[in-house]
Amino acid sequence: MKLAIGCDHGGYELKCEVLKHLNERGIEYIDFGCDSTASVDYPVYAKKVTDAVTAKEADLGILICGTGLGMSMAANKVEGIRAALCHDAFSAAATKEHNNANVLCMGGRIIGPGLACLIVDNFIDTPFSNDERHIRRLSLFDPTMA
Ligand code: RB5
Repeated sequence: MKLAIGCDHGGYELKCEVLKHLNERGIEYIDFGCDSTASVDYPVYAKKVTDAVTAKEADLGILICGTGLGMSMAANKVEGIRAALCHDAFSAAATKEHNNANVLCMGGRIIGPGLACLIVDNFIDTPFSNDERHIRRLSLFDPTMA
């Protein structure tokens, strides 16, 4: 399991907490930046992470901005990316199980590190159900699931 992770200035502090957690769990990742709270443009980091996922350099992506909203909008423009904005632990598991989400988006100005790390764990640890009905529904909007 290898993750691609990226953030903007609004998500930088939460990303640092998530990276600490990934290190503790021994989960491999590529950190695509940014590397400080200096203002940057979130679509740049969404592109780096989604490129890594579509190129299969990473199995899953994590994107963090102030709200998670801009990152999720930008990520979902990329074919083959199913990005889910999650601020609760149930959704993080459900979007893997039902939607086969491959990018998790969160907002550093919305949730704290404890909940964020629980969301990350549920996202990483929950497999896609592979149920025929979910594959059928996903293939209705994502040709890479057909
Ligand atoms: C940056 O101020 C903020 O707009 C960004 O982090 C994000 O919340 C966008 O959706």
